[in-house]
Amino acid sequence: DKGNYKHFMAKEIHEQPEVIGHTISRYIDLNDYSTVVPEASAIDFTKLDRLVITACGTAYYAGLVAKYWFEKYARLPVDIDIASEFRYREMPVKAGDLALFISQSGETADTLASLRYCKDKGMVIGSVVNVPESTIARESNVVFPTYAGPEIGVASTKAFTCQLTVLAALAVHAGRMRGTLSEAQAKGLVETLSELPSYTRQALALSDQIEEMAHWISQTNHALFLGRGTSFPMALEGALKLKEISYIHAEGYAAGELKHGPIALIDETMPVFVVAPHDSIYEKTVSNMQEVAARGGRIVLITNGKGAEAAGLEAHHIITVPDVPEIATPIVYALPLQLISYYTAVFMGTDVDQPRNLAKSVTVE
Ligand code: M6R
Repeated sequence: DKGNYKHFMAKEIHEQPEVIGHTISRYIDLNDYSTVVPEASAIDFTKLDRLVITACGTAYYAGLVAKYWFEKYARLPVDIDIASEFRYREMPVKAGDLALFISQSGETADTLASLRYCKDKGMVIGSVVNVPESTIARESNVVFPTYAGPEIGVASTKAFTCQLTVLAALAVHAGRMRGTLSEAQAKGLVETLSELPSYTRQALALSDQIEEMAHWISQTNHALFLGRGTSFPMALEGALKLKEISYIHAEGYAAGELKHGPIALIDETMPVFVVAPHDSIYEKTVSNMQEVAARGGRIVLITNGKGAEAAGLEAHHIITVPDVPEIATPIVYALPLQLISYYTAVFMGTDVDQPRNLAKSVTVE
């Protein structure tokens, strides 16, 4: 049931504050802002040398964001790969290390094959899944559920942000266990995560502004998305969403890669979406943005208030996202990126919930 919405995707985008709230409440204790991960009691985080993460599509991008978090907060090196590559790569893995599989459906063929490879090698199998009775969940030693509820739209939205929510809580938990975060630091991070429902609700208020941009975006055949740090995987996700449902060719790049090739594409017709919260690497991303502006590229800057102030006149459009602490940024910035693709696709009249050639669950390789 779509309720009052035109598409399941719109409904699912708007459900995010609520389902992220359900999800985070399972992983933190609001009384003392500690992480509560009973599922993880079987895992000795202090003994792990590394974490292997494998997934496909949007779930893979959630894993890419998580790599930044696990490495920063838990000082745990992460190897992450696309499941279709991992499964045939015969990667050397260590028995007893943790392998994490991320999947909304829990039925993705390549992810499942990768899981079986790791299980065979004696790794501990953890999964972040949205369907608790799925094959991936059943074959895991430890399941970290997302509580997004059924996701009908082929384009993953609420499942993605709930995956990120679980992974953020897990990274903080691992940091506590490994002693790489002090109790005070961990509490601060948990407090931020507890505010996610409110932060994402504020981000939804960007809908009207983004809807007004849809006509302009729909006139392009190509777009670039740029970001650094955790905003790099978010750029990949923004590009995937746009191509999936609007069929506009979009590429996501690490902003620092711009001058290693993609800058050749920039001309007056090329929209460039720059995902850049005002953080420690903001200046670097802005200098990439200036390079785009100097070549006539049409910039849409997605940033917070401070970032908007510091941006100068280069951006043609600025989408000002609520000001949130760093760990919350990927989750909050996901919403404007989803809204960009949603409204563009609606404007173009494509089949938003059932884009051509795509299936919700990819059970064949
Ligand atoms: O069910 P899964 O999370 O394993 O699915 C993985 C991908 O097929 C999925 O995320 C796909 O990329 C979506 N259509 C993205 O919106």
